[in-house]
Amino acid sequence: MLSQIKDLAANLAPRLIEIRRHLHSHPELSGQEYQTAAYVAGVLSSCGLQVQELVGKTGVVGELPGIGEDARLLAVRTDMDALPIQERTGLEFASRQIGLMHACGHDVHTTVGLGTAMILAQLGIPLPGTVRFLFQPAEETAQGASWMIRDGVMQGVTAIFSVHVFPTIAAGSVGIRYGALTAAADDLEITVIGESGHGARPHEAIDAIWIASQVVTNLQQAISRTQNPLRPVVLTIGQIQGGRAPNVIADQVRMTGTVRSLHPETSAALPAWIEQIVANVCQTYGAKYELHYRRGVPSVQNDLHLTQLVEAAASEAWGSDRVQILLEPSLGAEDFSLYLDHAPGTMFRLGVAFDDKPNYPLHHPQFHVDEKCIVTGVVTMAYAIYKYWQTKN
Ligand code: NI
Repeated sequence: MLSQIKDLAANLAPRLIEIRRHLHSHPELSGQEYQTAAYVAGVLSSCGLQVQELVGKTGVVGELPGIGEDARLLAVRTDMDALPIQERTGLEFASRQIGLMHACGHDVHTTVGLGTAMILAQLGIPLPGTVRFLFQPAEETAQGASWMIRDGVMQGVTAIFSVHVFPTIAAGSVGIRYGALTAAADDLEITVIGESGHGARPHEAIDAIWIASQVVTNLQQAISRTQNPLRPVVLTIGQIQGGRAPNVIADQVRMTGTVRSLHPETSAALPAWIEQIVANVCQTYGAKYELHYRRGVPSVQNDLHLTQLVEAAASEAWGSDRVQILLEPSLGAEDFSLYLDHAPGTMFRLGVAFDDKPNYPLHHPQFHVDEKCIVTGVVTMAYAIYKYWQTKN
């Protein structure tokens, strides 16, 4: 089966590169993936899948029915949106949209999803159960997964696979991560409310700037002294505003920030813990506060058995020296985690680095990929799907 999948992928490679270049030249912003979605739907229909458009606003779902021997339903999730970045790769198929670029590899993810669907449709051996391909919009704004889920795409799904490009792994290799892959990412907004006064008479005022700086310092120190160092927490205050004149004590300071954590228990406890520190500091110095803690996406926790399955598929396909076990998670965020509230799943990393050219990080205006990664991605995904049906129900 593996050699059949590899042969099909090799034959499809020129077409897949054409698809990827088309997507790369025509990036669309999160939630506006109309052309991309229509294109994806067209490719899926042409390989005989049952296609539903406008799922999760601008998402697409393609279903490849099995013969019904196995009631399980496997989903494959990819994302389609681009970023508001002006591309500087100089490639002949560079973005044709000013200020928009596929700088996070979602063009590659979409191509891998399509290529996997093409291969499974062409295998000539029907699968025992159904595979549902999810092409989601708006991953960059962490909205698309919840839109798709609201429209019912996870109904009946028993396992879900996904993939993300990784610029520090060589093209031709994949990265496998057990446990936490990405962080929970939440938003924080704190307003410290003091009382204005003359800059020369601090005892008659409540200095919101000084108290806000105590809040920031306390939060940072409290992380190092009260949080388990093996369960990382990153709190970044990225914005601070307050005060109007050099000789007037500020009555209000507004701060916004991002809070990242990996462990679900830590994540659950963070809002109350942060509020306690803010409340205590403000109370000590007579200030009031407002705190808004907005949950973003949870941490992606890769399922043990499905991760073992993808690792085995990749090792058989490429040899274990081209399968890197990633020892560290990322503190980036990924809304794939929202699907994992409904079914176990795993996301693998797809190496895209050139071995003879400089490589750039994700979201960089010169980010580029060695396109041989596409075949690596589709074979790994298609073979993992094949192997899924061999596992016990
Ligand atoms: Ni991405």
